[in-house]
Amino acid sequence: MRMSFHNQHIISVDQFTTEMIDSLFRLSQKMEPIVQNRKGPKPLNGYVLGNLFFEASTRSRMSFASAFYYLGGLVNSTVGMVFSSISKGETLADTIRVIQSYCDIIALRHPEIGSACEAASISRVPIINAGDGHGEHPTQALLDLYTIFLEKGTLDHLTITMVGDLRFGRTVHSLARLLCLQKGIRFKFVAPQVVQMPEDIVTEIKGKGFEVEISEDLNEAMKSSDIIYSTRIQRERFEHPKDYESIENLYILTKEKIQSLCKKDVSILHPLPRTNEIDTGVDEMSQAAYFRQAQNGLYVRMALFLLVLGRESDIQ
Ligand code: NCD
Repeated sequence: MRMSFHNQHIISVDQFTTEMIDSLFRLSQKMEPIVQNRKGPKPLNGYVLGNLFFEASTRSRMSFASAFYYLGGLVNSTVGMVFSSISKGETLADTIRVIQSYCDIIALRHPEIGSACEAASISRVPIINAGDGHGEHPTQALLDLYTIFLEKGTLDHLTITMVGDLRFGRTVHSLARLLCLQKGIRFKFVAPQVVQMPEDIVTEIKGKGFEVEISEDLNEAMKSSDIIYSTRIQRERFEHPKDYESIENLYILTKEKIQSLCKKDVSILHPLPRTNEIDTGVDEMSQAAYFRQAQNGLYVRMALFLLVLGRESDIQ
């Protein structure tokens, strides 16, 4: 059966095929002119997005919302547990049963792993997983992959270093698994043991025949990398501050380090927000791709909404 995005819940990168990703990226490339020109089709006119964010977020929430607005839709948002009925003891299932009557599609961010899957089992409108605890963040992985494609002109045979909090960072979980659709990727996971990539993900990637190097040595990994994907320590997922304080300043990328160690055409990615893991001096370097990456997120989410809601043929 031919897989497609149409009317699907977007819960995990497992759902995607190379064919689906090709069609998403082709459509994403048509989104920039719509945003820049303010003219053109408004295929989501009359549609409402329920932006249901139960965890801190600025860019993901706003990027989902702006993606919908630029296509002519409307957004109904809630932010944080305290302002939602969950603080009154309502279950997520009941929230979804109600909210699905108020919108055509729901973007859900929730602190619990598995929450998006639970919501999808109830909802009659598509659920987009915008991050479920330290589980997955599939739309971030799609925009990361799109950025890698734009930066490198290919997705195959790249050496990709992921560094930082690989244990609790959901973006790296999704991206590492999504990259397994490509050919010849060499993975380098750089982190102290306490926040290394979960064993099940490493086993899955190796099982698919990819080369995986686990290390604590960023300098060494930098030398051969085509992509360095830096992440922040996910403080909010640690029980005690002392557990993250000791690892917070281990891997800081600076302009000098990148100049002296990396290949000239390395690309530096980060899902943002950054704390101190990328020095601001790096921002002026052409290799710094993280702000372009955030902008690409808008286009990828626009394209994803069109495909899920079946409105892609409105775009020429
Ligand atoms: C990431 C997230 O929320 O998982 N941010 C994002 O979606 N842009 C990464 C993070 O919070 O560190």
